Amino acid sequence: MNFSKEIDLHNIPKHIAIIMDGNGRWAQKNGQERLFGHFAGVDAVRSTVKAAAELGVKYLTLYAFSVENWNRPKEEVDGLMDLLVDTLAKEIDALDEDGVRLMTIGNIAGMPLSCQTTLAESIERTKKNERINLVLALNYSARWEIIEAVKKIAEKVKVGSVSTEQIDEALMSSNLTTAAIPDPELIIRTSGEHRLSNFLLWQSSYAEFYFAKIFWPDFDKTHLQEAILDYQNRERRFGLVSDQIKH
Ligand code: FPP
Repeated sequence: MNFSKEIDLHNIPKHIAIIMDGNGRWAQKNGQERLFGHFAGVDAVRSTVKAAAELGVKYLTLYAFSVENWNRPKEEVDGLMDLLVDTLAKEIDALDEDGVRLMTIGNIAGMPLSCQTTLAESIERTKKNERINLVLALNYSARWEIIEAVKKIAEKVKVGSVSTEQIDEALMSSNLTTAAIPDPELIIRTSGEHRLSNFLLWQSSYAEFYFAKIFWPDFDKTHLQEAILDYQNRERRFGLVSDQIKH
């Protein structure tokens, strides 16, 4: 189906965050090893970034590796790390040409050195790009980042640069790894699961959720358009009543 005509280009979510789920099941369905699903997932990443940029999305966050994912079999973890480095090496020219600025959230210092180096180079190389920000959530855990923010704020209170009364939502937000990134208006999860899985817990307070039944490797431009259209047909009330929004 073509949804592009129905989408209101003046009401595109500025930030869409995606939980890319179902690579393993997609591979299984196709009689392949799990890693094959992750390889196929990269194709979906490529087409989604392109489609999001075309639609005018300014931030696209992809949950690429969670803190919990370290517990997977070593072969899969190593394969995912290699895939990240190889994909960035292969795609960075095209991303740069397309005006994509790469960013990361999560505990990057806890990633393998090869990943850290490739990420740092890619971030530096694309830092002036403005068309779309591609935010990779890597070694990410929302609870971890909230605890880290609390520690940073506690330290500031301890040295006297912040008073307890000054602790508010803005201060908390500015101490998260997403400090430079607006909250997502739309969070998409593929594979039919209905969970947040430790993703953007603080930032998702007013987000709309969209659950797609398909596995991540099957996600493409049409599904992104479908999710945006669904989002546009909802009424975001932020705790108010319907009449207050309309007037
Ligand atoms: C979830 O599917 C997917 C992941 C944990 C990894 C996602 C990574 C990619 C798509 C590659 C990313 C690469 C770049 C460059 C961003 P799953 O393995 O949990 O699937 P399952 O639930 O069916 O097992």
